Amino acid sequence: MHLKSLLFIVNICTILPIRLLYCYLVILIKYKRSLRGTICTRTFMRESFILTSDDAFAEVINPLLNWCVSYLCGKPETLQYCTTTEDRLIFDKELGLTEIDTIIDVKYRWFKMPDGFDPRNDDILIYFHGGGYAVAMSPSTLTFLGNLSKKFPKLAIIMLDYSLTLGPDSKKFPAQLLEGLGIYDYVINTLHCENVILMGESSGGNLELALLNYLITNTTIPLPKKAVLISPWANPSKMDRYNKRQEKELEMLDCVTFDGSIDFKDRLLGPELRNECLPLVDILYHFDPKVWYKILDVCSIYVTYGKDEILRPQIEHLIDKFADTHPDKFNEITDVSGYEGGCHIEPLLVSDKNMDSWSQHGAVSGILQFIEK
Ligand SMILES: *[C@@H]1O[C@H](CO)[C@@H](O)[C@H](O)[C@H]1NC(C)=O
Ligand SMILES: *[C@@H]1O[C@H](CO)[C@@H](O)[C@H](O)[C@H]1NC(C)=O
Repeated sequence: MHLKSLLFIVNICTILPIRLLYCYLVILIKYKRSLRGTICTRTFMRESFILTSDDAFAEVINPLLNWCVSYLCGKPETLQYCTTTEDRLIFDKELGLTEIDTIIDVKYRWFKMPDGFDPRNDDILIYFHGGGYAVAMSPSTLTFLGNLSKKFPKLAIIMLDYSLTLGPDSKKFPAQLLEGLGIYDYVINTLHCENVILMGESSGGNLELALLNYLITNTTIPLPKKAVLISPWANPSKMDRYNKRQEKELEMLDCVTFDGSIDFKDRLLGPELRNECLPLVDILYHFDPKVWYKILDVCSIYVTYGKDEILRPQIEHLIDKFADTHPDKFNEITDVSGYEGGCHIEPLLVSDKNMDSWSQHGAVSGILQFIEK
């Protein structure tokens, strides 16, 4: 284990409790907010992430998360996706990225396959987890999906376990997008599912946007019928920045930081491309209304975000673009939930034992209604 990983563990036991206490006091006194809801969880997430390094992610956090997730829902399975000539043409030649393998391993986990699932009539949800493409799937995602599954017992749920940008098998863009394409192709062309819903949080939302864009422009594979974007990272290279003091203030109520998201973006693109702003990465920056008109025409989109999150400007901008592009299919009132007082990925942090109050929670109810309709 590297020294930095050991240092991380020491810091978690020493600096973290002091930082947490400080943050809670600031939130109570300066922001006059109670510590109820998800405030404690988000502060804990943010302050722990601030103490991490690449080594600590790869050697401590990700193995721990992977262990928990495998314990709760089994080890990942692997399928193979054969990239098409077009895939290789686009990523190798048009985008000038390193050579794309002909055969790609796609890791995934079944969260649930209901008995008697009928691919022609029943819904299947493909889930893309978040974590800036660097952090493994976390148990909070499983809790959320478990609750969702209780609400929709006939819903099949499959989760992509895409390659991370850190660790022994680390991969950069476009590996994650091609793996997303691989699982989508498997669900459509091997399982013959006709009612697909995509759902993703944060970087998973970025992957979802990129996949929709890619499917419509460069493949003949049919689009899903619905897509839920939970705090999507619409513009990884084009964050709205403020001065240091304002950024510290904005971060105090969220679970992610400005610097942290820049690091995530740099790892995704790697040293050669880190200053580029690529289509299929910065979806909002490269937003093409003609493309998104076609997408919205066949795929209903629902966006949720928290009013306290640092990604709020880019998410609201994306929402405006959707609404301008196809007002008949995307409506800022019915297809959006901006949760007052909510942080990044708020719906995943809501914990509630009671199905009625969970279903009615402001950050959750819109998602459930959208899946139901
Ligand atoms: C992929 O889609 C883009 C955007 O529509 C287009 O410019 C490009 O020519 C397409 N490439 C292939 C190989 O289809
Ligand atoms: C959500 O899942 C968690 C973890 O399995 C469980 O403790 C909780 O009771 C569930 N809540 C609802 C509303 O089903």
